[in-house]
Amino acid sequence: MIHEQTDFATSEAIRPDASVPPPADWMYLGKPVAFEATSCAATVAHEAKVSLGVMAIDAEVLRVAILGPTGDWPKSTPAIVEDVSSGLPWRLERGDRAAALVSEAGWRVEIDQVDGTWCVAHRDLASKLAGLTWYRAKRGGACTFRSAEDARFYGLGEKPGPLDKRNEAYTMWNSDVYAPHVPEMEALYLSVPFVIRLEQQQVIGIFVDNPGRSRFDFRSRHPDVEIATERGGLDVYFIFARSLKDAIRRYTALTGRMPLPPRWALGYHQSRYSYETQSEVVSVAQTFRHRDIPLDALYLDIHYMDGFRVFTFDDRRFPDPAGMCRELQSLGVHVVPIVDPGVKQDPEYPVYREGLAQDRFCKTAEGQVYLGEVWPGMSAFPDFFAPAVRTWWGDWHRVFTHAGIEGIWNDMNEPAVFNETKTMDVGVLHRDGDEMRTHGEVHNLYGFWMAAATYEGLKEQLQGRRPFVLTRAGYSGIQRYAAVWTGDNRSFWEHMAMAIPMVLNMGMSGIAFGGPDVGGFAHHASGELLARWTQMGAFFPFFRNHSAMGTHRQEPWSFGPKFEAIIRQAIRRRYRFLPYLYTLFREAHETGLPVMRPLVLEYPDDPATYNLDDEFLVGTDLLVAPVLKPDFTCRAVYLPEGEWIDYDTHARYRGGQHVLVEAPLERIPVFVRAGSAIPVNLAEVPGETKLAWEIYLGADGQAIGRLYQDDGETFAYEDGAYCDRQLRAVDTGDGICVECTLVYGSGEGGSTESEIRILTADGAEKRASAEGISFAVKVR
Ligand code: GLC
Repeated sequence: MIHEQTDFATSEAIRPDASVPPPADWMYLGKPVAFEATSCAATVAHEAKVSLGVMAIDAEVLRVAILGPTGDWPKSTPAIVEDVSSGLPWRLERGDRAAALVSEAGWRVEIDQVDGTWCVAHRDLASKLAGLTWYRAKRGGACTFRSAEDARFYGLGEKPGPLDKRNEAYTMWNSDVYAPHVPEMEALYLSVPFVIRLEQQQVIGIFVDNPGRSRFDFRSRHPDVEIATERGGLDVYFIFARSLKDAIRRYTALTGRMPLPPRWALGYHQSRYSYETQSEVVSVAQTFRHRDIPLDALYLDIHYMDGFRVFTFDDRRFPDPAGMCRELQSLGVHVVPIVDPGVKQDPEYPVYREGLAQDRFCKTAEGQVYLGEVWPGMSAFPDFFAPAVRTWWGDWHRVFTHAGIEGIWNDMNEPAVFNETKTMDVGVLHRDGDEMRTHGEVHNLYGFWMAAATYEGLKEQLQGRRPFVLTRAGYSGIQRYAAVWTGDNRSFWEHMAMAIPMVLNMGMSGIAFGGPDVGGFAHHASGELLARWTQMGAFFPFFRNHSAMGTHRQEPWSFGPKFEAIIRQAIRRRYRFLPYLYTLFREAHETGLPVMRPLVLEYPDDPATYNLDDEFLVGTDLLVAPVLKPDFTCRAVYLPEGEWIDYDTHARYRGGQHVLVEAPLERIPVFVRAGSAIPVNLAEVPGETKLAWEIYLGADGQAIGRLYQDDGETFAYEDGAYCDRQLRAVDTGDGICVECTLVYGSGEGGSTESEIRILTADGAEKRASAEGISFAVKVR
């Protein structure tokens, strides 16, 4: 049968009269008319009767906001975990043309008294934010500032398109986008209004703490930048940093960092929309075991529910969820069910009834429960902004935790609604503490609060075990509660390639735990695409294969034995590198630095890295260059400075050049930085560790590495029950001294036996073994 395709835009979309951009309704604030410098903030009043507050949080962060009519600062969103209610003292210096606010923390804010523009500088840094101009919009605010022609922009959370966002423009408005993700899409499911500018080696991070609609435009005034909010005023944090890494560290100090996820969450996950019966779920898990393919988690998409009612199981198709979970547990597999926010409007359904009786749902300004259509039909939406609603929602997860479930997948939490605006009416009211806020003001926080409710509920019920939450929507700070996947991509080679900059920029925005649907969600994968994507996905922080109803099946064996073997090998490699990855998760937890990194993060002096997004680093020591096109069996790889060793062939390359490497289908090019020591698991499966240190001596005969281990399950790491070691290897001429020392923690959870595998600078391979948490061995 041939289907007629009718649902697409035609040329009519560009009829000459169709799209006239609306005029900007911005009001320039005009000249400053009064200054006030106090011990905790400064105020600049303007001709337009608008005052800006200026707060030096510390020597790195400057907060500027449009103040309320009584001089009050805007209320921070829950993204902020630091106390930002007052800052360091200012003094005022008056000059002929400009007045300057000066703080002991090193800030100097010069305000031109004629044209009202600002220039922000810091004593210890060459960075400058010049030509900063402020506007009041109808209900929001805006600012523009000068940037150099060659300035680069990173971050902004989950956006399609290239790594460097210059010349692009993006909207922050969490949106359920099933249409094929294309580079010009301005809004997807998650919004992080944080961007980092790299300009002539100077770094400034800009965080606009506004959960309504905002816009970052690097195009209209190029090279200048324009940032605007639609509602809720303007509250901006400028982070003056010494490096890109410092900007991320400082931003994540402000918005929080990821708690350690359970180790199983770092493994391979398999999903399908949907595994429709309990016996299918069990049989998929058994097939993984039978085919000897490692698996840590299986997902239940919406068909497990009774008529898509959340917190229910369909008792015909899933007659014994607890039994199913036990069976999967015995196979070492975790079950992760989907939970959407929409609660079916059904007076016989306890969640709906209880929600109504206890006033848990979002309401319109007229006081009616807001109803919108999603999978179950007309549904009510919990008002997650209210703490009591979050607790109520969290409590409902007992349905799952009683069955032994420890991970939850939050979807449709933009929230997605099947209507014209694709979301909840912007006039719906949320109870935000003592205040009521319209949905339009706080839209981007809906998914954040849902994930928080889920995480906290699970945490309480799991009694010391770490929960895992996966979310589609979120706002700055979401890293404190959930991993993020990039939503409904397609089985296109282009989408595989686009996943790299998307997840790299999420990492530059504080979200270290992210990944796409491996193999692609919609459309049909091929064996080759799935093989290549799995090889790549094995190096992403979040590693889940998911596909949509009606598409070609995507389990590793779906394309026959040839591809199955390659995919098995790729998944095993994930488990091989798991000790290294887990160590990087620890680093992300401590510092906010991403697990998966663009080369520019480590090599910011090398312009060749500025927009390099078809290869990436995992931590500092692994460089991964996936094959992103069909039928290609080799690819060009850029190697940054230093020396790099091909992981498979052990060929050594000098950095600072492109090399052409062979990449037949069974191989993904991976390079190790010479001078590094990588902890790996030779068992290459979950639940079994055979630790080895793979040591790649640099030209100077040295190597260094870190290994973080703990029980992988509980919060005991918060009390020091972990083993954080450093390994150093030095070629002394008469042998290689390998010394491993416990640097932090009690040593609990650390492997006490390790194999040592050394590759010397001249290509010789040596092996030894070592015992104990700390050890020193000489290898000849
Ligand atoms: C949404 C999700 C997708 C899921 C589907 C059905 O499209 O993004 O991952 O499979 O809903 O629940």
